[in-house]
Amino acid sequence: MTLPLVLVSHALPDDWITSLAGQCELLIGPPLGSGLAPELVQHMPEAAGLLTLLTVRIDEALLTRAPHLRVVSNVAVGVDNVDLAACTRRAIPVGHTPGVLTDATADLAMALLLAAARRLPEAAADAAGGRWGLWSPTRWLGHDLAGATLGIVGPGRIGQAVARRAAAFGMRIVVAGRQPASPGPAGFDATCQPLDTLLRTSDFVSLHVPLTPATRGLIDAAALRRMRPNAILINTARGQVVVTDALVQALREGWIGGAALDVTDPEPLPPEHALYQFPNCLIVPHIGSATHGTRRRMAELACANLLAGLAGQRLPHCANPEVYT
Ligand code: DGY
Repeated sequence: MTLPLVLVSHALPDDWITSLAGQCELLIGPPLGSGLAPELVQHMPEAAGLLTLLTVRIDEALLTRAPHLRVVSNVAVGVDNVDLAACTRRAIPVGHTPGVLTDATADLAMALLLAAARRLPEAAADAAGGRWGLWSPTRWLGHDLAGATLGIVGPGRIGQAVARRAAAFGMRIVVAGRQPASPGPAGFDATCQPLDTLLRTSDFVSLHVPLTPATRGLIDAAALRRMRPNAILINTARGQVVVTDALVQALREGWIGGAALDVTDPEPLPPEHALYQFPNCLIVPHIGSATHGTRRRMAELACANLLAGLAGQRLPHCANPEVYT
């Protein structure tokens, strides 16, 4: 029996993808690299499945080369790298990995919030750089979390997990977006506000919306101008939700108090980029889900989606469920 051919865009640890053994023939790309490696692209005509990272654009042009493709499985919860409509038109279900990265990403959002609130990067750099000096009552002053207002933009799974953590720190939660679950199951009390009000009233604003045409550029110059001069913007969603040039201007002109970013536009953010110049802008390289356990669970779930698609079964987590109607 011939096994279906599956292209794996980037090499992953063998023990993350053991469930694929014996189920398909694997053609695996290099561990790093943007896009799909040419040696894989040339096999698109025979491919039945594609297991891919968020750094690969799955678009009309690529899909046209793959007349036998039965499933695309993204090792990510976000699917903005995939043209979902084009996949649906071809009856190709697209798998993604919600749930398994919620806690890790919420932990990182909280870590960024804490680090920015207490100016950890600046204080650590000063300590290491010989600028510690004598203990001073007025240096490296940051912001209290208890009693501060956290605005959650996009209270989905991750936004709610951040809110639960922040509530434990005594923060007041406001949300913009669809109504979160009731206070009981959600584990926090939240007030729902229009985005403009949230921006005006929050001490911290944390972004948790997927990247869609509606959210691209959501935090633009006008939005940043609405924020409080001390407010800190945290982005663990997608870089393109924030207009980068507007953020640079906001930091340069003091419209906001600071930013803490796990995601940027572009990615990677080149070392000479203006955003690195601001001591009150903390940038980490898209590591929201980067824990051993979480990345393994993401790969395992992506494999489960892939195998279901190859078998013609409904994917456990399908990003374009309309494909089944
Ligand atoms: C995702 O899954 O969409 C994250 O950005 C990477 O874990």
